[in-house]
Amino acid sequence: MRQVQTIADLRSAVQAARQRGQSVGLVPTMGYLHAGHLALVDAARRDNELVVVSIFVNPLQFGPREDFARYPRDLARDAALLQEHEVDLLFAPSVEEMYPRPLATFVEVPDLSQTLCGRSRPGHFRGVATVVSKLFHLVQPDRAYFGQKDGQQLAVIQRMVSDLNIPVEVVAVPTVREPDGLAMSSRNIYLSADDRRHATVLYRALQHAKALITDGERDGRRVAAEVAQRVAAEPGVRLDYAEVVDWETLQPADVLQGRVMVAVAAYVGQARLIDNLQLTVHADGRVTEH
Ligand code: PAF
Repeated sequence: MRQVQTIADLRSAVQAARQRGQSVGLVPTMGYLHAGHLALVDAARRDNELVVVSIFVNPLQFGPREDFARYPRDLARDAALLQEHEVDLLFAPSVEEMYPRPLATFVEVPDLSQTLCGRSRPGHFRGVATVVSKLFHLVQPDRAYFGQKDGQQLAVIQRMVSDLNIPVEVVAVPTVREPDGLAMSSRNIYLSADDRRHATVLYRALQHAKALITDGERDGRRVAAEVAQRVAAEPGVRLDYAEVVDWETLQPADVLQGRVMVAVAAYVGQARLIDNLQLTVHADGRVTEH
């Protein structure tokens, strides 16, 4: 695996692969890798000849009172994991390399960014869309890999790619979970042993939502209220939101039909955790999970 820090080195490495006729897959990350990231890497490895992983803790997507400074970082450990997973190229730029001067240009998908997590994280998805579009320009991958765990992020990126005709296939990879259901996240490191036990309420509440919908419940607000009530009742957990939304608009789905997302966010100890369930409610009553 080759590791580069500069845009010039990244571009010349990708260009050399292109000249050899190789297909290119990109896995954008903020590092501190876990099994969820490695599932993205493995999917990219299966589909592409050159696999590029970026590790960049993007200041643009953190609010002034968020955890940018203390976000966990361990480049040496990440590089060893990526080497084991047969990554070809690791791009780990500095903030100065990515943003040599304050940006005057941003990419934003406002309709999908102001709901759900956007309410408590104003500017977050503008930061995500801007850095991901920069990475797409730098690498020009055939495919790019994102986890379903960040459901709203996935919807924002898919819409940005569609609206701006960016020539990349966005590949969504299912959430990887701990044996007790907790979704893998770099922020799980913030959880104390007690928090860690309580944090599984997000998964338990989503499983309850799935059972309700599979049993025929079609009132999205009722499902959301049940999820909210379960999460809010858990000791040490403060609910941010629980919603059932239409996948295309991310607006509340009053009547459940087509592709929907049950999304939940909560503060557990020092961590803000998110999780979701992506379902299609078919006209014949069947319910399938993405
Ligand atoms: O999901 C993440 O880790 C980040 O939001 C991403 C996509 C790498 C952009 O900084």
